[in-house]
Amino acid sequence: MILETERLILRPWQEADAEDLYKYASSDEVGPIAGWPAHTSVENSLDIIRNVLSLPETYAVVDKATKCAIGSVGLKIGKVSDLDIPETEAEIGYWLGVEFWGRGLIPEAVKEIIRYAFEDLNLQKIWCGYYDGNIKSKRVQEKCGFEFQFTKNDVYCSLLEEIRMEHITCLTKEKWQKADKRTMA
Ligand SMILES: CC(C)(COP(=O)(O)OP(=O)(O)OC[C@H]1O[C@@H](n2cnc3c(N)ncnc32)[C@H](O)[C@@H]1OP(=O)(O)O)[C@@H](O)C(=O)NCCC(=O)NCCS
Repeated sequence: MILETERLILRPWQEADAEDLYKYASSDEVGPIAGWPAHTSVENSLDIIRNVLSLPETYAVVDKATKCAIGSVGLKIGKVSDLDIPETEAEIGYWLGVEFWGRGLIPEAVKEIIRYAFEDLNLQKIWCGYYDGNIKSKRVQEKCGFEFQFTKNDVYCSLLEEIRMEHITCLTKEKWQKADKRTMA
């Protein structure tokens, strides 16, 4: 599936993206706050494209102007998620290269993924989460209509071997439809 927004193309990751991926995912400001270690080499990024970013419904966030992959957004549907959710629900995750922060690009990508999830995949609920202190991600979730549900106190981040506090939010199809109608009115 290929999705499009005003400034972005969302398409499956390709092995040819390894250099772009390394450029942005090697920053210590991107992965660790989201629960994964910074990439260590282009080979490491290629391995991640083959083994992690190849999961279904995982999209490279591509800058329309340059055609470069600058971030990622994806849905983990049902049992693919760690959240113990049914197949009618999904968890959304995202990140963006530091030099592109602050332009509303991830909210733009997330809103299109939400539309796709509710309208095309017919999902009923989308979950999201952020580790305590990740204000930037909290803001993305607020801008996209997610509402706080509960806090998990002792979440084990296996990739970093750390225990963290995680705040979980969600958006139902019903709330999204109502908000959508208000926007269009
Ligand atoms: C979270 C993230 C995806 C936001 O993407 P984005 O496209 O920059 O989103 P926005 O432009 O809407 O900015 C969101 C908030 O980030 C903060 N922010 C924006 N640019 C920033 C910058 N250059 N430096 C620090 N904070 C910044 C602001 O608080 C902003 O909220 P505001 O618009 O109310 O001021 C991005 O910061 C990122 O990749 N962070 C690291 C990975 C991560 O946290 N992923 C999510 C895991 S749950």
